[in-house]
Amino acid sequence: IFNSLAQTPPMGWNSWNKFGCNVSEDLIKEMADAMVESGMKDAGYEYIVIDDCWQVGRDSTGNIIPDPKHFPHGMKALADYIHSRGLKLGIYSCAGSYTCQGRPGSRGYQFQDARQYAAWGIDYLKYDWCSNEGQNAQAAYQTMSDAIKQSGRPIVFSICEWGENQPWKWGKGIGHMWRVTPDIRDCFQCKFDWGGVGVLDIIDIMADLYPYAGPGHWNDAEMLEIGNGGMTKDEYITHFSMWCMLATPLMAGNDLRKMDAETKEILTNKEVISVNQDKLGQQARRFMDMGEKEIWAKPLANGELAVCFLNRTETTWHLNYDWHKQTIYFADQVNIHKKEYTIRDLWKHQNIGTTQANTVCDIPPHGVLMVRLSEK
Ligand code: GLA
Repeated sequence: IFNSLAQTPPMGWNSWNKFGCNVSEDLIKEMADAMVESGMKDAGYEYIVIDDCWQVGRDSTGNIIPDPKHFPHGMKALADYIHSRGLKLGIYSCAGSYTCQGRPGSRGYQFQDARQYAAWGIDYLKYDWCSNEGQNAQAAYQTMSDAIKQSGRPIVFSICEWGENQPWKWGKGIGHMWRVTPDIRDCFQCKFDWGGVGVLDIIDIMADLYPYAGPGHWNDAEMLEIGNGGMTKDEYITHFSMWCMLATPLMAGNDLRKMDAETKEILTNKEVISVNQDKLGQQARRFMDMGEKEIWAKPLANGELAVCFLNRTETTWHLNYDWHKQTIYFADQVNIHKKEYTIRDLWKHQNIGTTQANTVCDIPPHGVLMVRLSEK
Protein backbone atom coordinates (compact mmCIF):
# COMPACT_ATOMS: atom_id res chain seq x y z
CA ILE A 1 0.00 0.00 0.00
CA PHE A 2 2.84 2.40 0.77
CA ASN A 3 3.89 2.53 -2.85
CA SER A 4 0.41 3.32 -4.11
CA LEU A 5 0.14 6.56 -2.13
CA ALA A 6 0.82 10.13 -3.27
CA GLN A 7 0.58 9.35 -6.97
CA THR A 8 0.04 13.08 -7.38
CA PRO A 9 1.53 15.66 -4.99
CA PRO A 10 -0.30 15.56 -1.62
CA MET A 11 -2.61 18.50 -0.95
CA GLY A 12 -3.73 19.74 2.44
CA TRP A 13 -3.17 22.15 5.27
CA ASN A 14 -0.52 22.27 8.02
CA SER A 15 -0.70 24.19 11.29
CA TRP A 16 2.91 25.39 11.50
CA ASN A 17 3.23 28.49 9.30
CA LYS A 18 0.31 30.32 10.91
CA PHE A 19 -0.12 28.80 14.35
CA GLY A 20 3.29 27.47 15.38
CA CYS A 21 2.95 25.74 18.72
CA ASN A 22 -0.64 26.89 19.31
CA VAL A 23 -2.38 23.71 18.22
CA SER A 24 -5.48 22.13 19.74
CA GLU A 25 -8.25 19.76 18.73
CA ASP A 26 -10.64 22.68 18.42
CA LEU A 27 -8.35 24.45 16.00
CA ILE A 28 -7.85 21.29 13.95
CA LYS A 29 -11.58 20.57 13.79
CA GLU A 30 -12.38 24.14 12.82
CA MET A 31 -9.77 23.97 10.08
CA ALA A 32 -11.33 20.76 8.75
CA ASP A 33 -14.76 22.40 8.74
CA ALA A 34 -13.32 25.42 6.96
CA MET A 35 -11.58 23.21 4.42
CA VAL A 36 -14.92 21.69 3.48
CA GLU A 37 -16.97 24.90 3.60
CA SER A 38 -14.49 27.14 1.78
CA GLY A 39 -14.32 24.91 -1.29
CA MET A 40 -10.74 23.82 -0.54
CA LYS A 41 -11.77 20.18 -0.23
CA ASP A 42 -13.63 20.44 -3.50
CA ALA A 43 -10.46 21.84 -5.10
CA GLY A 44 -8.53 18.75 -3.99
CA TYR A 45 -7.13 19.52 -0.53
CA GLU A 46 -7.35 16.47 1.69
CA TYR A 47 -4.82 16.25 4.55
CA ILE A 48 -5.11 18.25 7.77
CA VAL A 49 -1.68 18.05 9.39
CA ILE A 50 -0.95 18.85 13.05
CA ASP A 51 2.66 20.01 13.18
CA ASP A 52 4.85 20.23 16.28
CA CYS A 53 3.62 20.61 19.89
CA TRP A 54 0.72 18.13 20.09
CA GLN A 55 2.82 15.74 22.25
CA VAL A 56 3.91 16.17 25.87
CA GLY A 57 5.64 13.01 27.05
CA ARG A 58 5.59 9.21 27.26
CA ASP A 59 3.86 6.93 29.72
CA SER A 60 5.62 4.19 31.69
CA THR A 61 5.35 1.79 28.75
CA GLY A 62 6.72 4.35 26.30
CA ASN A 63 3.47 5.31 24.62
CA ILE A 64 3.46 8.87 23.35
CA ILE A 65 1.04 11.15 25.22
CA PRO A 66 -0.90 13.88 23.41
CA ASP A 67 -1.26 17.15 25.34
CA PRO A 68 -4.32 16.45 27.54
CA LYS A 69 -5.16 20.11 27.85
CA HIS A 70 -5.32 20.92 24.15
CA PHE A 71 -6.36 17.49 22.88
CA PRO A 72 -8.66 16.36 25.70
CA HIS A 73 -10.48 13.77 23.58
CA GLY A 74 -7.31 12.24 22.20
CA MET A 75 -6.13 11.56 18.69
CA LYS A 76 -8.47 8.71 17.82
CA ALA A 77 -11.53 10.88 18.38
CA LEU A 78 -9.93 13.68 16.37
CA ALA A 79 -9.10 11.34 13.50
CA ASP A 80 -12.68 10.05 13.53
CA TYR A 81 -13.95 13.60 13.27
CA ILE A 82 -11.59 14.47 10.40
CA HIS A 83 -12.57 11.29 8.58
CA SER A 84 -16.27 12.06 9.08
CA ARG A 85 -15.67 15.25 7.10
CA GLY A 86 -14.18 13.25 4.26
CA LEU A 87 -10.64 14.38 5.06
CA LYS A 88 -7.44 12.77 6.34
CA LEU A 89 -5.37 13.49 9.43
CA GLY A 90 -1.63 14.05 9.56
CA ILE A 91 0.69 14.26 12.52
CA TYR A 92 4.29 15.28 13.21
CA SER A 93 7.28 13.69 14.88
CA CYS A 94 11.03 13.79 14.70
CA ALA A 95 13.87 11.36 14.00
CA GLY A 96 15.77 12.76 16.97
CA SER A 97 15.05 12.35 20.66
CA TYR A 98 13.36 15.75 20.70
CA THR A 99 11.32 17.67 18.16
CA CYS A 100 12.33 21.15 17.05
CA GLN A 101 10.18 22.56 19.86
CA GLY A 102 11.69 20.24 22.45
CA ARG A 103 8.82 17.76 22.57
CA PRO A 104 9.50 14.01 22.64
CA GLY A 105 10.77 12.70 19.30
CA SER A 106 10.56 9.15 17.99
CA ARG A 107 14.17 8.02 18.27
CA GLY A 108 14.10 4.57 19.90
CA TYR A 109 10.29 4.43 19.67
CA GLN A 110 9.75 4.35 15.91
CA PHE A 111 7.82 1.07 15.72
CA GLN A 112 5.78 1.78 18.84
CA ASP A 113 4.88 5.23 17.54
CA ALA A 114 3.94 3.99 14.07
CA ARG A 115 1.66 1.35 15.61
CA GLN A 116 0.08 4.04 17.74
CA TYR A 117 -0.47 6.36 14.77
CA ALA A 118 -2.08 3.51 12.86
CA ALA A 119 -4.33 2.66 15.81
CA TRP A 120 -5.42 6.29 16.02
CA GLY A 121 -6.18 6.38 12.28
CA ILE A 122 -3.41 8.74 11.22
CA ASP A 123 -2.95 9.07 7.45
CA TYR A 124 0.20 11.19 7.10
CA LEU A 125 3.41 11.67 9.07
CA LYS A 126 5.80 14.60 8.78
CA TYR A 127 9.11 13.53 10.28
CA ASP A 128 11.61 16.18 11.30
CA TRP A 129 15.36 16.23 11.90
CA CYS A 130 16.07 18.31 15.03
CA SER A 131 18.34 16.91 17.75
CA ASN A 132 19.25 14.15 15.32
CA GLU A 133 22.32 13.32 17.36
CA GLY A 134 24.54 12.66 14.36
CA GLN A 135 22.52 9.77 13.02
CA ASN A 136 22.79 8.77 9.38
CA ALA A 137 19.80 10.48 7.79
CA GLN A 138 18.97 7.80 5.26
CA ALA A 139 19.09 5.09 7.92
CA ALA A 140 16.99 7.13 10.34
CA TYR A 141 14.28 7.77 7.76
CA GLN A 142 14.45 4.18 6.57
CA THR A 143 13.68 2.97 10.12
CA MET A 144 10.56 5.08 10.39
CA SER A 145 9.56 4.11 6.87
CA ASP A 146 9.84 0.42 7.83
CA ALA A 147 7.80 1.10 10.96
CA ILE A 148 5.05 2.78 8.94
CA LYS A 149 5.01 -0.04 6.41
CA GLN A 150 4.78 -2.61 9.22
CA SER A 151 1.88 -0.76 10.81
CA GLY A 152 -0.23 -1.87 7.87
CA ARG A 153 -1.96 1.48 7.48
CA PRO A 154 -1.63 3.65 4.37
CA ILE A 155 0.34 6.59 5.76
CA VAL A 156 1.97 9.22 3.58
CA PHE A 157 5.53 9.76 4.83
CA SER A 158 6.96 13.26 4.58
CA ILE A 159 10.73 13.50 5.07
CA CYS A 160 11.76 16.80 6.62
CA GLU A 161 15.54 17.06 6.94
CA TRP A 162 15.70 20.37 5.05
CA GLY A 163 17.72 19.00 2.13
CA GLU A 164 20.81 18.63 4.29
CA ASN A 165 21.65 15.10 3.17
CA GLN A 166 20.44 15.31 -0.44
CA PRO A 167 17.29 13.28 0.27
CA TRP A 168 16.33 13.41 -3.42
CA LYS A 169 19.10 10.86 -3.97
CA TRP A 170 17.76 8.28 -1.50
CA GLY A 171 14.23 9.31 -0.52
CA LYS A 172 12.30 7.41 -3.20
CA GLY A 173 10.76 4.31 -1.64
CA ILE A 174 11.54 5.58 1.88
CA GLY A 175 9.20 8.57 1.84
CA HIS A 176 6.70 10.12 -0.56
CA MET A 177 8.27 13.58 -0.42
CA TRP A 178 11.28 15.30 1.01
CA ARG A 179 11.97 18.89 1.96
CA VAL A 180 14.79 20.44 -0.06
CA THR A 181 15.29 23.71 1.85
CA PRO A 182 15.30 25.32 5.28
CA ASP A 183 11.97 26.72 6.49
CA ILE A 184 10.00 29.04 4.23
CA ARG A 185 9.39 32.65 5.26
CA ASP A 186 6.42 34.72 4.15
CA CYS A 187 8.46 36.76 1.68
CA PHE A 188 9.25 36.75 -2.00
CA GLN A 189 12.96 37.36 -1.90
CA CYS A 190 14.67 37.18 1.45
CA LYS A 191 17.35 35.30 3.22
CA PHE A 192 17.74 35.29 6.95
CA ASP A 193 20.98 34.74 8.78
CA TRP A 194 19.72 31.57 10.35
CA GLY A 195 18.64 30.16 7.04
CA GLY A 196 14.95 30.88 6.41
CA VAL A 197 14.20 31.14 2.69
CA GLY A 198 11.78 33.06 0.47
CA VAL A 199 9.88 32.04 -2.64
CA LEU A 200 12.62 32.84 -5.18
CA ASP A 201 15.32 31.11 -3.13
CA ILE A 202 13.23 27.95 -3.03
CA ILE A 203 12.51 28.08 -6.75
CA ASP A 204 16.24 28.28 -7.45
CA ILE A 205 16.97 25.29 -5.22
CA MET A 206 14.16 23.29 -6.83
CA ALA A 207 15.34 24.11 -10.37
CA ASP A 208 18.01 21.41 -10.57
CA LEU A 209 15.97 18.70 -8.87
CA TYR A 210 13.43 17.93 -11.61
CA PRO A 211 14.90 14.49 -12.44
CA TYR A 212 14.05 13.23 -8.94
CA ALA A 213 10.31 13.96 -8.94
CA GLY A 214 7.59 11.57 -10.06
CA PRO A 215 4.44 9.78 -8.91
CA GLY A 216 4.91 8.70 -5.28
CA HIS A 217 8.13 10.67 -4.75
CA TRP A 218 8.20 14.44 -4.79
CA ASN A 219 10.61 17.26 -4.06
CA ASP A 220 8.92 19.25 -1.30
CA ALA A 221 9.29 22.99 -1.87
CA GLU A 222 7.83 23.76 1.58
CA MET A 223 4.40 24.70 2.82
CA LEU A 224 2.49 27.62 1.38
CA GLU A 225 2.40 31.12 2.84
CA ILE A 226 -0.51 32.36 0.72
CA GLY A 227 -2.91 34.35 2.90
CA ASN A 228 -0.45 35.05 5.69
CA GLY A 229 0.01 38.66 4.66
CA GLY A 230 3.71 39.08 3.90
CA MET A 231 3.51 39.24 0.11
CA THR A 232 1.51 41.09 -2.55
CA LYS A 233 -1.28 39.43 -4.50
CA ASP A 234 0.96 39.03 -7.56
CA GLU A 235 3.69 37.47 -5.41
CA TYR A 236 1.25 35.00 -3.93
CA ILE A 237 -0.01 34.15 -7.42
CA THR A 238 3.61 33.51 -8.42
CA HIS A 239 4.19 31.42 -5.29
CA PHE A 240 1.17 29.24 -6.09
CA SER A 241 1.80 29.04 -9.85
CA MET A 242 5.39 27.95 -9.39
CA TRP A 243 4.54 25.39 -6.69
CA CYS A 244 2.09 23.91 -9.18
CA MET A 245 4.64 23.97 -12.00
CA LEU A 246 7.16 22.28 -9.71
CA ALA A 247 4.82 19.35 -8.97
CA THR A 248 5.36 19.85 -5.27
CA PRO A 249 2.97 19.16 -2.40
CA LEU A 250 0.40 21.91 -1.82
CA MET A 251 0.06 22.35 1.93
CA ALA A 252 -1.76 25.56 2.76
CA GLY A 253 -0.35 27.34 5.80
CA ASN A 254 -2.90 30.08 6.47
CA ASP A 255 -6.02 30.40 8.63
CA LEU A 256 -8.68 28.73 6.48
CA ARG A 257 -11.43 30.15 8.70
CA LYS A 258 -10.58 33.71 7.76
CA MET A 259 -9.65 33.69 4.10
CA ASP A 260 -10.32 36.80 2.06
CA ALA A 261 -11.65 36.41 -1.47
CA GLU A 262 -8.21 36.90 -2.98
CA THR A 263 -6.58 34.14 -0.93
CA LYS A 264 -9.42 31.74 -1.65
CA GLU A 265 -9.29 32.52 -5.35
CA ILE A 266 -5.57 31.69 -5.45
CA LEU A 267 -5.68 28.53 -3.34
CA THR A 268 -8.70 27.08 -5.15
CA ASN A 269 -7.76 27.88 -8.75
CA LYS A 270 -8.60 24.49 -10.24
CA GLU A 271 -6.97 25.17 -13.59
CA VAL A 272 -3.66 25.89 -11.91
CA ILE A 273 -4.07 22.98 -9.48
CA SER A 274 -4.69 20.62 -12.39
CA VAL A 275 -1.15 21.38 -13.59
CA ASN A 276 0.17 20.37 -10.15
CA GLN A 277 -1.97 17.25 -10.06
CA ASP A 278 -1.23 16.14 -13.63
CA LYS A 279 -0.84 12.38 -13.87
CA LEU A 280 2.49 12.46 -15.65
CA GLY A 281 4.01 13.81 -12.44
CA GLN A 282 6.80 15.79 -14.10
CA GLN A 283 8.42 18.73 -12.41
CA ALA A 284 8.83 21.87 -14.52
CA ARG A 285 12.19 22.86 -15.95
CA ARG A 286 13.57 26.32 -16.36
CA PHE A 287 14.40 26.32 -20.06
CA MET A 288 14.95 30.02 -20.67
CA ASP A 289 16.75 32.27 -18.27
CA MET A 290 16.97 35.78 -19.66
CA GLY A 291 18.39 37.45 -16.64
CA GLU A 292 15.57 37.90 -14.23
CA LYS A 293 12.94 36.85 -16.76
CA GLU A 294 12.47 33.12 -16.98
CA ILE A 295 10.36 30.60 -18.86
CA TRP A 296 9.46 27.31 -17.24
CA ALA A 297 7.78 24.35 -18.92
CA LYS A 298 6.04 21.29 -17.48
CA PRO A 299 5.01 18.44 -19.74
CA LEU A 300 1.48 17.23 -19.02
CA ALA A 301 -0.44 14.09 -19.87
CA ASN A 302 -2.14 13.87 -23.29
CA GLY A 303 0.58 15.82 -25.05
CA GLU A 304 -0.23 19.10 -23.33
CA LEU A 305 2.26 21.52 -21.86
CA ALA A 306 2.14 24.07 -19.05
CA VAL A 307 4.33 27.13 -19.52
CA CYS A 308 5.03 29.77 -16.92
CA PHE A 309 6.70 33.12 -17.68
CA LEU A 310 8.21 34.28 -14.41
CA ASN A 311 9.06 37.96 -13.95
CA ARG A 312 11.48 38.21 -11.03
CA THR A 313 12.06 41.91 -11.58
CA GLU A 314 10.44 44.93 -10.04
CA THR A 315 9.29 46.29 -13.38
CA THR A 316 6.64 45.15 -15.83
CA TRP A 317 7.69 42.59 -18.44
CA HIS A 318 6.28 43.57 -21.83
CA LEU A 319 6.13 40.11 -23.26
CA ASN A 320 6.05 39.59 -27.02
CA TYR A 321 6.70 35.92 -27.41
CA ASP A 322 7.23 34.05 -30.67
CA TRP A 323 6.49 30.38 -30.01
CA HIS A 324 8.23 29.28 -33.18
CA LYS A 325 11.59 30.39 -31.94
CA GLN A 326 11.50 28.20 -28.87
CA THR A 327 10.89 24.68 -30.02
CA ILE A 328 14.10 23.12 -28.81
CA TYR A 329 12.91 22.22 -25.37
CA PHE A 330 9.29 21.72 -26.37
CA ALA A 331 10.14 19.46 -29.28
CA ASP A 332 9.47 16.11 -27.59
CA GLN A 333 6.25 17.25 -26.07
CA VAL A 334 4.65 19.63 -28.52
CA ASN A 335 5.59 20.27 -32.11
CA ILE A 336 4.85 23.89 -32.68
CA HIS A 337 6.06 23.84 -36.28
CA LYS A 338 3.71 21.06 -37.34
CA LYS A 339 0.68 21.70 -35.16
CA GLU A 340 -1.26 24.59 -33.78
CA TYR A 341 -1.87 24.83 -30.05
CA THR A 342 -4.49 26.73 -28.15
CA ILE A 343 -3.07 28.87 -25.37
CA ARG A 344 -5.14 29.16 -22.23
CA ASP A 345 -4.37 31.70 -19.52
CA LEU A 346 -4.91 29.76 -16.28
CA TRP A 347 -5.42 32.87 -14.13
CA LYS A 348 -7.71 34.74 -16.51
CA HIS A 349 -9.55 31.51 -17.30
CA GLN A 350 -9.68 32.28 -20.97
CA ASN A 351 -8.03 31.32 -24.22
CA ILE A 352 -5.61 33.99 -25.40
CA GLY A 353 -4.81 32.81 -28.92
CA THR A 354 -2.75 30.08 -30.49
CA THR A 355 0.91 29.34 -31.04
CA GLN A 356 0.56 30.63 -34.62
CA ALA A 357 0.72 34.20 -33.36
CA ASN A 358 2.95 35.92 -30.85
CA THR A 359 1.69 36.11 -27.31
CA VAL A 360 1.69 39.73 -26.26
CA CYS A 361 0.93 40.78 -22.71
CA ASP A 362 2.21 42.65 -19.68
CA ILE A 363 3.47 40.57 -16.77
CA PRO A 364 3.48 42.56 -13.54
CA PRO A 365 6.52 42.92 -11.26
CA HIS A 366 7.10 39.64 -9.40
CA GLY A 367 4.25 38.18 -11.43
CA VAL A 368 3.65 35.38 -13.90
CA LEU A 369 1.81 34.46 -17.06
CA MET A 370 0.83 30.81 -16.66
CA VAL A 371 -0.67 29.04 -19.67
CA ARG A 372 -1.66 25.59 -20.86
CA LEU A 373 -0.98 24.55 -24.46
CA SER A 374 -3.43 22.06 -25.97
CA GLU A 375 -3.50 20.83 -29.56
CA LYS A 376 -6.12 22.73 -31.47
C1 GLA B 1 11.22 22.51 11.70
C2 GLA B 1 10.48 22.22 10.40
C3 GLA B 1 9.25 23.11 10.32
C4 GLA B 1 8.36 22.86 11.52
C5 GLA B 1 9.14 23.08 12.80
C6 GLA B 1 8.34 22.66 14.01
O1 GLA B 1 11.74 23.80 11.70
O2 GLA B 1 11.31 22.42 9.30
O3 GLA B 1 8.54 22.86 9.13
O4 GLA B 1 7.86 21.54 11.47
O5 GLA B 1 10.35 22.35 12.81
O6 GLA B 1 9.04 22.79 15.20
